[in-house]
Amino acid sequence: MSKFFALIPAAGSGSRMGNELPKQYLSLANQPMIYHALKTLCQTPEIARVFIVLAPSDHDWHQYDWSEFAEKLIVLNCGGATRAESVLNGLVVAQGECIVDANDWILVHDAARPCLSSSQLEKLINELADDEVGGLLAIPVADTLKRSNADTRIQQTESRENLWQAQTPQMFRYELLSKALTNTINITDDASAVEALGLQPKLVHSDAYNFKVTYPQDLALAELILKHRNAQ
Ligand code: CTP
Ligand code: MG
Repeated sequence: MSKFFALIPAAGSGSRMGNELPKQYLSLANQPMIYHALKTLCQTPEIARVFIVLAPSDHDWHQYDWSEFAEKLIVLNCGGATRAESVLNGLVVAQGECIVDANDWILVHDAARPCLSSSQLEKLINELADDEVGGLLAIPVADTLKRSNADTRIQQTESRENLWQAQTPQMFRYELLSKALTNTINITDDASAVEALGLQPKLVHSDAYNFKVTYPQDLALAELILKHRNAQ
């Protein structure tokens, strides 16, 4: 039986957020942002362990008490210059823990997606557990899409048919993901690396709540979602 592991790349600086503190540590619903995704992943019974990949220069992680996750959490200080490098470094170091097999599933989840829900996570695991390739949470594009020229004038309206926005977790087997990430440069998600091998990851229908906190105004929206969920 294949096991399930989560890996959270959290070695970014959050430059688009414009705050000196990396965005994964910004306060959100009374916790550092990263706490929320960690909690959802750690409380999911299928997930055996959760690896978190920090920048080697990270001075913030140890400012907080993470003991409630001690049973599942493994901290790796091997982040790289890009998200893909952080994930790949994490995979290499995780293998040294001797608990991950080639066929085990790795669910890569952005620290900056704090509103992942347990039900979306369960859906991803259930839909892909027997899949040959793996896949990711995603949502069909809802807005009309415009392509601009250099003067921000519309050059063309693009069809949104069959277009999806990729989210995380992205779920692939250890060996396939390691091979895929070793072979690619200039990618912003794990699925693109797998696509470059000629494979077709499966899109699992998610919802807009699992958005990525990127700009300052995203924080207030994430806070609303989490507070509403916690009050239920
Ligand atoms: N990430 C990482 N290592 C990097 C860059 C990003 O582990 N060298 C992680 C981030 O910490 C985040 C996830 O990848 O959890 C998604 O990246 P993004 O939202 O782009 O975060 P940042 O790179 O930190 O933000 P920005 O691009 O605005 O600088
Ligand atoms: Mg980035």
